[in-house]
Amino acid sequence: MLPKIMTAPMAGITDAPYRKICREMGLELAYTEMVSSRGLIFGNERTEDYVDRSDEGSSLGIQLFGNQPEVMANATKRLEELVKYEYLDINMGCPARKIMSNRDGCALMRTPILAGDIIRSIRRVTTRPLSAKMRLGLTKGSINVLEVAKRVEEAGADFIIVHGRTADQMYSGTADWDTIARVKQAVSIPVIGNGDIFTLDDYIDKQEYGVDGFMLARGIQGNPWLIRDILLFEETGVRSTRPGLAEKVEVARRHLDYIIQIKGIGAVPEFRKHAAWYFKGIPGSAKFRAALSSLNTPQEFRDLTERWLDIQG
Ligand SMILES: Cc1cc2nc3c(=O)[nH]c(=O)nc-3n(C[C@H](O)[C@H](O)[C@H](O)COP(=O)(O)O)c2cc1C
Repeated sequence: MLPKIMTAPMAGITDAPYRKICREMGLELAYTEMVSSRGLIFGNERTEDYVDRSDEGSSLGIQLFGNQPEVMANATKRLEELVKYEYLDINMGCPARKIMSNRDGCALMRTPILAGDIIRSIRRVTTRPLSAKMRLGLTKGSINVLEVAKRVEEAGADFIIVHGRTADQMYSGTADWDTIARVKQAVSIPVIGNGDIFTLDDYIDKQEYGVDGFMLARGIQGNPWLIRDILLFEETGVRSTRPGLAEKVEVARRHLDYIIQIKGIGAVPEFRKHAAWYFKGIPGSAKFRAALSSLNTPQEFRDLTERWLDIQG
C-alpha cells in the first residue's frame, strides 16, 4: 500500500545523508534526486551518488528523467541491475530551462502521447510501482494535467503525483489544490498531491482535497521534524512540541556527520545550505548564519554551535 506521506525528489538536496535524517523522523518512502536516463545508459551517471546503503530497510524511490521511450526502458533495466529500490517515478514536472530545452521534465506535458508512450515502454520492463510526477501544464493558458494524467494511467502507471503549479510559475504563487482534486476525480489510480505543505496545519488543511497521499518538498528543508509531526498526528491526533535549539543543533550535527560518512570530507560545503535552513528564523541567528556560509570543516561547525548554544543557553 502507498504510504500517506513521502518526500519529493529535489535535485542537489535529497541525497543519501538527507534521506537518512528523514528516515530517523519515521519516513518510509523517500525519493532520490532526479537521475538522467541517458546518463545511465551511457554509463556516465554515477548511480552510487544517488543511492546508498542508508536506504536499506525503507522504501527508496528513484526518479528518472528523459524523453525517449526506448532509452527510458533501457535505463530502467540498468537500474534493476544496479540498485535496490522499490518505486520508480518519471519526471514530467521539472521546469528548469536546461531540462526543458532538452525536451525533458515538464516539456513532456507538451506531448501527452509521448508521455504515455514513455510510461508504456517502462511498464514492459518493470513490475515495480511506477508513477509520473507532473505539474498542471506549461502555462495558465494551457493547463492539460487531466489529459496527461489519463494518458499516463492508460499506459499503465500505478499512481500519479501532481504539483499544483504550471511550469512557468516555477515556485511562485500558491499551489492550486482544486485542480489537483480534479485530477483525483478524473482517474481511478491513486493521486498524490504536492505543493506548499510547510506546516502541520498546511497538511491538515490539504486533507479536504480527497487525494490519496501527500508529497513534501521545501517544507522539510531544515525541518525534517515536519515528518515526525505529521506521523504523530496521524497516529495519535497529538501535536508534537517544536524542536528547541539544542535539538536542532544535534540533528544538524548528525546530518553533517552523515554527509562526511557517505560523501567524504570534501562534501562539507554542501552542508552550508542545510545549515542555513536548520537555523532560519531563529531570533539573533543572523551573525551565526553568516558564519555558516563559509563553513569548511566539521570542527568549525562544532565550535560555532557550541558558542551559540552557550550564548543562547
Ligand atoms: C531545489 C529543488 C529541486 C527540485 N528538484 C526536483 C527534481 O529533481 N524532480 C522533481 O520532480 N521535482 C523537483 N523539485 C520540485 C519538488 O519536488 C516539488 O514538486 C516542489 O518543490 C513543490 O512542492 P513544495 O511546495 O512542497 O516545495 C525540486 C524543488 C526544489 C525546490
